[in-house]
Amino acid sequence: MTISQGSTATLEATRADLHAKLRGIVPEAELDLKAELAYSVNQIKAERGAVILGHNYMEPALFHSVCDFTGDSLELSRVAAQTEADPIIFCGVRFMAETAKILNPERTVLLPARRAGCSLAESISAADVRNLREKYPGAPVVAYINTYADVKAEADICCTSGNAARIVNALDADQIIFLPDEYLAQNVARETGKSIIFPSSGPVTGSTRDSAASDGMHYDVVGWTGRCEVHEKFTVDDILSVRHQFPEVVVLAHPECSPAVVDAADFSGSTSAMSDYIRDSGANQYLLLTECSMGDNIAAEAPEKDMLRLCSVRCPHMNEITLEHVLTALREDREQIEVPEEVRIRARVSIDRMLELS
Ligand code: 13P
Ligand code: SF4
Repeated sequence: MTISQGSTATLEATRADLHAKLRGIVPEAELDLKAELAYSVNQIKAERGAVILGHNYMEPALFHSVCDFTGDSLELSRVAAQTEADPIIFCGVRFMAETAKILNPERTVLLPARRAGCSLAESISAADVRNLREKYPGAPVVAYINTYADVKAEADICCTSGNAARIVNALDADQIIFLPDEYLAQNVARETGKSIIFPSSGPVTGSTRDSAASDGMHYDVVGWTGRCEVHEKFTVDDILSVRHQFPEVVVLAHPECSPAVVDAADFSGSTSAMSDYIRDSGANQYLLLTECSMGDNIAAEAPEKDMLRLCSVRCPHMNEITLEHVLTALREDREQIEVPEEVRIRARVSIDRMLELS
């Protein structure tokens, strides 16, 4: 996680800072406009006593100019649990801003773009979780943080990509339900030495899943077939082709990638774990299989490292958060996140349990 000083720099200093950090990554002409926006955001942020939390996937100019804290989902949840600032501006997607609101019901939490969703969060409903509980009575439900509040409210505990294996290992249960990411569930099951099935009632069914579900055997983990629309696009062929051209390359894959892709990579971890790995490793060339703005953000921080890109893969939801939208959010208190109190109280239990175990 990175904690910034909270900039009250002049416009000139903001412009100079962005040019120094992002030259060669963001077009020069764009940087002047971004610097003006960042300056205005920082002015209003200071006047209002606001805090800005930015996920590692934020676009480089926003990431490097207005965020007080940047990090992965787990790190930002921890910050959200501790901050006393009001309002909290969450530069990420809706489930992340909801988590901040669940932890801070008395504060204003703003998401700078109304439509910033997530294909994983949208793949499962609270009713789906209740159905799974009926089908697998007694199995505790682990909900990935990439779920909406009503799904967290039906779960026993949350997890993120940064602590999923630890949470699964900590549960003293014969069988668990892990949702909604099919690939993360498979990767975690493999890491923890557990067997897994996907019940045919999931949003995607196929012959292998159906036969697995009906073979009468016991499985340790019951998964759900949600997918990240960004990470599911990476393939083993992508890795082989880059390795062929750049034999020294170190490949990093987020655990929302398929197990085959994770297998073919050199390292897999949360967005911050991948960033730390690159910072601490001695290699010079990397391929990062995750949202492509993160490669730009690392390239800006470590210009001596060569970041190869497969940059057709931007998360359309993270992409909704721009400096323009952050400025409007701060000026007009938009988009205020609300969570019904009855849902919030139950969802908070799942998040608190995760934070205690992390
Ligand atoms: P991290 O928790 O690893 O930051 O991941 C969040 C996410 O949405 C990845 O797509
Ligand atoms: Fe959701 Fe995937 Fe975007 Fe992350 S990258 S917010 S998992 S759609």
